[in-house]
Amino acid sequence: MGVSAVVTSGKGGVGKSTVSLGLGQALAQRGRRVLLVDCDAGLRSLDRMTGTEEGLVFDLADVVSGRCAPAEAIYPCGEGQLFLLPAPASGEGLVFPAVMRRLVPMLKQYYDYVLLDSPAGVGEGFRSAACGADRALVVCSPDPVSVRGAATANAQLRKLDVEDRRLVINRFANGPFQKAGAYPDLDGVIDGTGVRLLGLVPEDGALARFLQGKPVPEDSPGVKALRRIAGRLEGESIPVPEVV
Ligand SMILES: Nc1ncnc2c1ncn2[C@@H]1O[C@H](COP(=O)(O)OP(=O)(O)OP(=O)(O)O)[C@@H](O)[C@H]1O
Ligand SMILES: [Mg+2]
Repeated sequence: MGVSAVVTSGKGGVGKSTVSLGLGQALAQRGRRVLLVDCDAGLRSLDRMTGTEEGLVFDLADVVSGRCAPAEAIYPCGEGQLFLLPAPASGEGLVFPAVMRRLVPMLKQYYDYVLLDSPAGVGEGFRSAACGADRALVVCSPDPVSVRGAATANAQLRKLDVEDRRLVINRFANGPFQKAGAYPDLDGVIDGTGVRLLGLVPEDGALARFLQGKPVPEDSPGVKALRRIAGRLEGESIPVPEVV
C-alpha cells in the first residue's frame, strides 16, 4: 500500500503543480511507482506539463462516473514509473470529497506514491484533493500573502484530519535574506505558516520549462532541491542548504 500526499497552498500560482511534477519525477527516478492526480478541475495543467495532453481520452471525472476503468484514464509520462490521472476538463466535473476519500485508497494499492495536485484556494476543490491524503505538502513562497495562504490551508488540513503536514518554501532566493525583506529570516516564514519545514526550492527559471512540457536539466538547482525533498520524504536525513 502506497502513500498519498496532497500538494496544496491556499494561494494560487505559488508552484504546487511544479512541485508535484518535480517531486514525482524525483521519486520515479528513485525507482518508485508514482501517480500524479491533477485535482484542478477545469484548470488542469499537469497534462500539458507531462507532455501527455495530446493523447488524453479519459480523465478523473470519467473514472468517477464509471465511463471508463481507472487504468484507462491513467497515462504514462515518459520514462520511469511516473503516471498521470488528468483532472476533469471542465470545472463541472469536480469530484466530491467523499468520492475521493474512496478512490484514493484504491489507487494507493497500485502506486508507491499518489501525489494529489490541489487547485488554489481552500474550497471544495481543495477539500476534494486533501481528504484522501495521508500527508500534505504545503507550498508557499516567502511573501506575506502566500504565507498567510499556507497558514489558512494548514488550519483547514488539520480540520480534515491530515495530521502529517510539511512545508515546502518555493521560489526561494538565497542572499541577504530575500532582499525584499518581508521576513527577517527563514524562521519568520516558517513561523508565519505554522508548518514544519520539509525543504526549500530555489527560484530557478529552468523550472518554467515544465509549463512548456519540456524536460528540466538534471543539474538545475530546482531539480536538485526537489530530489533532496524526495529523499527526505523517504525518511533520509538530508540537510537543508544554508540560508543567508
Ligand atoms: N522555483 C521556481 N522558480 C521559478 N519559477 C517557478 C518556480 N516554481 C514555479 N514557478 C513558476 O511559477 C508559475 C506558477 O507555477 P505553478 O503552475 O506550478 O503554480 P500553481 O501553484 O500550481 O498554480 P495554480 O494555483 O494556478 O495551480 C509557473 O510559471 C512556474 O513556471
Ligand atoms: Mg497548479
